[in-house]
Amino acid sequence: MEYSVHYQPGDGYLAWLQYRNPAAGGAGRYQEYQRIVAAGLDNTVLRTAADELVQGLKGITGLEISVSETIAASPSIIIGTFGADSVVDGFFSTEVSNAVQAEGYAIQTDNKTGSIVIGALTPAGVLYGVFHLLRIMGTGGSVRQLNILENPANQLRMINQWDNMDGSVERGYAGQSVFYENNMITGQLERIQDYARLLASTGINAITINNVNVHQTESRLLTDFLPDVARLAAIFRSYAIRLFLSINYASTMEIGGLETADPLDPDVREWWRMTAAAVYEAIPDFGGFLVKADSENRPGPFTYGRDHADGANMLAEALQPYGGIVIWRCFVYNCKQDWRDRSTDRARAAYDHFQPLDGRFMDNVILQIKNGPIDFQVREPVSPLLGAMPKTNQVIEFQIAQEYTGQQRHVCYLVPQWKEILDFDTQLQGKGTTVRRIVDGSVHGNPYSGFAAVSNIGNDSNWTGHLLAQANLYGYGRLAWNPGLSADAIAGEWITLTFGFASAHEPFQLLLRILMESWEIYESYTAPLGVGFMVNPDHHYGPNVDGYEYSMWGTYHFADCHGMGVDRTTATGTGYTSQYVQANMEQYESLDSCPDDLLLFFHHVPYTHVLHSGKTVIQHIYDTHFEGAERAYGLLSDWKLMKGQVDDRAYRHVEERLTEQAGHSKEWRDRINTYFLRKSGIPDQHGRTIY
Ligand code: GCU
Repeated sequence: MEYSVHYQPGDGYLAWLQYRNPAAGGAGRYQEYQRIVAAGLDNTVLRTAADELVQGLKGITGLEISVSETIAASPSIIIGTFGADSVVDGFFSTEVSNAVQAEGYAIQTDNKTGSIVIGALTPAGVLYGVFHLLRIMGTGGSVRQLNILENPANQLRMINQWDNMDGSVERGYAGQSVFYENNMITGQLERIQDYARLLASTGINAITINNVNVHQTESRLLTDFLPDVARLAAIFRSYAIRLFLSINYASTMEIGGLETADPLDPDVREWWRMTAAAVYEAIPDFGGFLVKADSENRPGPFTYGRDHADGANMLAEALQPYGGIVIWRCFVYNCKQDWRDRSTDRARAAYDHFQPLDGRFMDNVILQIKNGPIDFQVREPVSPLLGAMPKTNQVIEFQIAQEYTGQQRHVCYLVPQWKEILDFDTQLQGKGTTVRRIVDGSVHGNPYSGFAAVSNIGNDSNWTGHLLAQANLYGYGRLAWNPGLSADAIAGEWITLTFGFASAHEPFQLLLRILMESWEIYESYTAPLGVGFMVNPDHHYGPNVDGYEYSMWGTYHFADCHGMGVDRTTATGTGYTSQYVQANMEQYESLDSCPDDLLLFFHHVPYTHVLHSGKTVIQHIYDTHFEGAERAYGLLSDWKLMKGQVDDRAYRHVEERLTEQAGHSKEWRDRINTYFLRKSGIPDQHGRTIY
């Protein structure tokens, strides 16, 4: 296997799989490993693991690598599954092999021979073990005394593509779809294979290949396009990734020739049973369906007076005989709200719709819940629905695509945000009931659990538009595998694997700083104190304070000449706070304890309200916006120090993006500051220019 035709040096296509001789470890460190020992290579995933190891080692050592089934005297890398491969079995104690779970692996260095052995229960585990070893070598680590045992914390580690068959990508900021063109599945399969290996190398094990908004053509992925879908499934299968489809809830009407999509109608149920049977005939390990129903004008069971459990269970029944699952999204709210109506609160909607249904969903249904109650803002509280349905499977949904965080034109490393969300203590079962533990299934012991996220890739040569946005894709996979990793450790891995800098090098530290500060910087020059939005309608790029203020989408800031923010308290507001357990509810409810960064999400306050930081709200707005824009310029000057340290093409590309970001941060700064100066009439204490 070789890199595909898309690769041009310096264009970012190889991402974190560069496999160069690592500057970090010095040349020659891994030279003795020229032999791979592997059996059972008729299994496609084991074959992939061996191929990846060959390719990686070849890149890192610069030597030809051989693969054989038998052990030799020279140190080798030995890979295989327990119980099937006697060579591998010989190396591991029963204690170790018993501790390795389905997709986990163990890696040990044999003291006598220097050989490295990777053993796992499944071929997928072997593949993940291989990528782990290559990551160690790619970051210049020692392989002398390896003694590693890893199991993924999360069972489902999923990517959602929002790709449409016309080649566009909903909220895509990196070119067109790599999956579709001209309403067909692309014939260029090697790019999809390259994507599969990027994903698998971070531990991803599931993918939906089409947008959650499923229109007419895409509805036919289930039927007419099935042979092509099966080809894609085969590619992902070889990387141990299960393929899912987003489906149109009203498929029975859209493509099935029926007059209804009522989930209790026998013909509807039969249509789905037949359709599922045909899908599994073509793709025996098909994952299942992802469903956006009764959400943002998409069809759903409400039309027939049924609820989400009726809808989801109808599909779950059709998939059950084959072990398939239904992933049902909870992004359900009234998107035709009257802005004059202050009693309707979009933030409440998911909990209000779903929580009462706990216990009604079949075992093969998973609810997919966005991390926050609104919509992937730079700052919002954690969704109170997470953990609030003990009898129901749940996965958390993140958005790697930077829809509201700079659209991959601004740098915004999102792993610190995700970490903060995962560390949030819901206190649902007493202290320590973190989102991380709810999502990994350990709190309620649900059969399914995990992570899903909206992908950020397209057909741009570097995949993600902004080269630095690759760190979000990498980071998502790593975090889904092990949420215990720190944001800077993940960033550090990505930097070394991508650019080759060791952590002691100045460029490494510089890049690490750029990434680690980027979320805070972005937040400081955009919507303040958790209030959200203030973006241009539709495309969501750039400042527009009142862009959504008089719209029907339920996202308001309520600024007037006295103050701003949304009163979501139980005492005087929408009552949203009551969806949290008492302790968290009390914290948010009271101005004394509500964290500054979420103040305007929970409260409507005067501009003169004093924050815990000691500043008034209005002065905070001015200060953060001046500082934020200045720091955005700082990112650009930091990057300029990278000239000559990274490939010139990559240098110029990032420089161009950071230049746009800096200029655009000024636009944000001035629009927001000017708006609030005019509304409040309160001048900046420091007399800076506001228009
Ligand atoms: C956001 C986004 C939409 C998307 C929706 C969803 O609102 O702007 O484009 O369809 O989320 O998650 O379904």
